[in-house]
Amino acid sequence: MKRPWYSFLYVRSPIVKIGLGIASLVLTIVLLLFIGIIEERRMEAQTANWAGREIEKGAELYANNCYNCHGMDGKGLPGVAPALHSKYFFTQRLNDIGWSGSLHDYVALTVAAGRPSRVQSQWAQMMPTWSNRFGGPFRDDQVQAVTAFVLNWEEDAMQQGAADNPDPWQYFEDAPSRAVVGEDGAPVAAVTPEPTGPRPPQELFNVMGCLGCHNLDQPQTPNNRGPVGPNLGNLYETAGTHGEDAATYVHNSIVNPNAYISEGYTAGIMPANFGERMSEEEINSLVEWLLDPNRQR
Ligand code: HEC
Ligand code: HEC
Repeated sequence: MKRPWYSFLYVRSPIVKIGLGIASLVLTIVLLLFIGIIEERRMEAQTANWAGREIEKGAELYANNCYNCHGMDGKGLPGVAPALHSKYFFTQRLNDIGWSGSLHDYVALTVAAGRPSRVQSQWAQMMPTWSNRFGGPFRDDQVQAVTAFVLNWEEDAMQQGAADNPDPWQYFEDAPSRAVVGEDGAPVAAVTPEPTGPRPPQELFNVMGCLGCHNLDQPQTPNNRGPVGPNLGNLYETAGTHGEDAATYVHNSIVNPNAYISEGYTAGIMPANFGERMSEEEINSLVEWLLDPNRQR
């Protein structure tokens, strides 16, 4: 009779049988351990992938909902909203307000609930409520995603402090300490420069933060509109078209921005307190400079 192909399995010796049994058991264990290790790596990669996707989702939410106040790159807009992409924010902010929880919770809570009361008028508008638990538009996972996106600035923000990469933080008027972070990360006192005579318009345009919202070199046309505030490159042509003379229009636009809202823009974005922060002389020189077609930078 022909032996079947599997006849090699007909082992007679009990010792060899036991040996084979043990060998296959060991092999199975080794195999399972191997799969376990691979799976752990795979899960790690998957988790990183999820975290990355959450940040991406957060970036989109940020671009659609937050940038008009906190700036495209999170560095804040003067008088509108504080910087979040800031070394101070990541290192000192929680100390200053005496918050003992994590920064993650602070951001998530602020996003979820907003700052529903307005105790001072440092900022042009209130921080809105975002969570649908409190009447806002975001689901919980969206609050988490935008929080992850904000916290994702930490690494880059920690590089701030050099002259070419300053910390964009704007002090809260009600923060107990006005500490600035020094070279070693320790707080040092902020220096308020003594006012010295009228400042030139070029300087005012920077220190008042106009630069953050207005482009001086681009003209404002229907196809080329400044994203935050109108471009001012052709202001000398457009300023006289509003029914008053150009200088009066520009002057009013600065000291009383909500009196006339440029088409397509929102009231309350441009800070309304420039009249208190510059002297009349400074404002007039700024108006003249903005209307000069050959202005010097
Ligand atoms: C209408 C303007 C506006 C919009 C839109 C806005 N914020 Fe704010 N945000 C503010 C203002 C103003 C403050 C400061 C409020 C205060 O403390 O009085 C603030 C504060 C914050 C703070 C706390 C900062 C700190 O140091 O205390 C975080 C975090 C924050 N906003 C995140 C966001 C995120 C994320 C979004 C988008 C989902 C967003 N904000 C949209 C105006 C805005
Ligand atoms: C936070 C953003 C922001 C800052 C800072 C800001 N502006 Fe504006 N500005 C706007 C917005 C938005 C408008 C359009 C809505 C309006 O008319 O109020 C505007 C309108 C204007 C206009 C009218 C432009 C036109 O074509 O009708 C002028 C002029 C102007 N700003 C000058 C300035 C000057 C000068 C400064 C600094 C002293 C300044 N702005 C600071 C946002 C800003």
